[in-house]
Amino acid sequence: MGPRQMSTSENAHRVLQRNRQPGGYTVPAEGLYPYQWCWDSGPIALGWAAAGDWDQAWTELERLMSAQWDSGMVPHIIFWEVSDDYFPGPEDWGTQHDPPTTGITQPPLPVTAAVRLCQQDPDRARAKERFGALWPKLVAWIEWLDRARRGPHGALVVVHPWESGMDNAPTWDGPLGRVPAIDELPLARRDLESVAASQRPSNEEYRRYMAIVEALRDRGWNTERQAEDGPFAVEDVAFTAIATRAASDLAAVAPELGQDASALEASATRLRSGIAALWDDEMEWFRPYDVRGEQLVGPATATGVLAMWANAATPAQAHAIAIRLGEWSEGLKYGVPTCDPEHHLFEPERYWRGPVWVIVNWLVAEGLSQYGFDAHAAEIRAMTSELVAAAGDSEYYDPRTGEGIGGRGFSWSAALTLAWLVP
Ligand code: GLC
Repeated sequence: MGPRQMSTSENAHRVLQRNRQPGGYTVPAEGLYPYQWCWDSGPIALGWAAAGDWDQAWTELERLMSAQWDSGMVPHIIFWEVSDDYFPGPEDWGTQHDPPTTGITQPPLPVTAAVRLCQQDPDRARAKERFGALWPKLVAWIEWLDRARRGPHGALVVVHPWESGMDNAPTWDGPLGRVPAIDELPLARRDLESVAASQRPSNEEYRRYMAIVEALRDRGWNTERQAEDGPFAVEDVAFTAIATRAASDLAAVAPELGQDASALEASATRLRSGIAALWDDEMEWFRPYDVRGEQLVGPATATGVLAMWANAATPAQAHAIAIRLGEWSEGLKYGVPTCDPEHHLFEPERYWRGPVWVIVNWLVAEGLSQYGFDAHAAEIRAMTSELVAAAGDSEYYDPRTGEGIGGRGFSWSAALTLAWLVP
């Protein structure tokens, strides 16, 4: 390990330590995101494990899963310690849950993280005990998704762009544009105090995001009916891919726990064919399907690539995607941009509309490897290492310059630096 790498990983470890809270969970970033976020917890747990703190790695996921709703839904934010730093807070959601949480979910990446901890924890007795206790909850999350969120093609429906994890991706412009915006935000946005407005979603988007929250809240947060209750319902590729992988990863370890894998395997197969149905032949890309607008939506964005992570692409489709990704990087200093850089909706500084994210690069590289594109995956890893070494553990990066933008000292970027980038 060279001196530069040493300091990159020390730095990453320090970021995680700074963001860990007395309550046993790690916030994505101090100030900007002061709570526990659902899908962030997956990579964060892997980061703690890579740092050798296995107890914290398990605790991270245990804290998250302790906030699961009776239906199996795992909320996208858990408001463990109420803070004035964030909007929308618990009173805006009004879910009446204990602990206070939002009423929507996020990609079930923590499931795969739990399986990896179970496979890799050197203390086998601990692995068995702690994974065994999580097992029914992880399975219930997948069962809920499969039961309550299956869309017309068999892929999973997100009922809010926030559920996708890729909040303001150009993919959502069409379906979100049809949601009538509320007139005014009840409180000022806090994110704009620390990050430039040019790097964040617009106020108009926020007024529509809140309209969806209000509609679901007015229907009483019925997690069995959200796809019908809300004004936004889109079958998403990445969300479904992460759920597919979650189901098949659980199925793979089921026998070790003496559990039956067949229902999980059947879920994974169903979800995978749901993704397959979202292939757009003309665009040669997987695209989300807007259930209300009855069409595939958006330009080629990061969500489509993640079909490979779930093994849902045919070899020919995977090949087409890999070639396209190579072309995307040609005019840019760093990849992978989160939107086709030739598309008019590409914005290299604005959040999910173009910037590079470590979390996406990691999932893309793993997906490429699954199809044998190892050299391409290694290139993405090397490029990401360079980016993090030069610009630190930022929330996201400008693909033209490599400048770190958005929040700083970001947990999942730090965690993946430890779990993926540092050899
Ligand atoms: C933003 C991202 C989301 C992430 C959260 C916390 O909302 O869009 O994916 O989970 O921040 O990092």
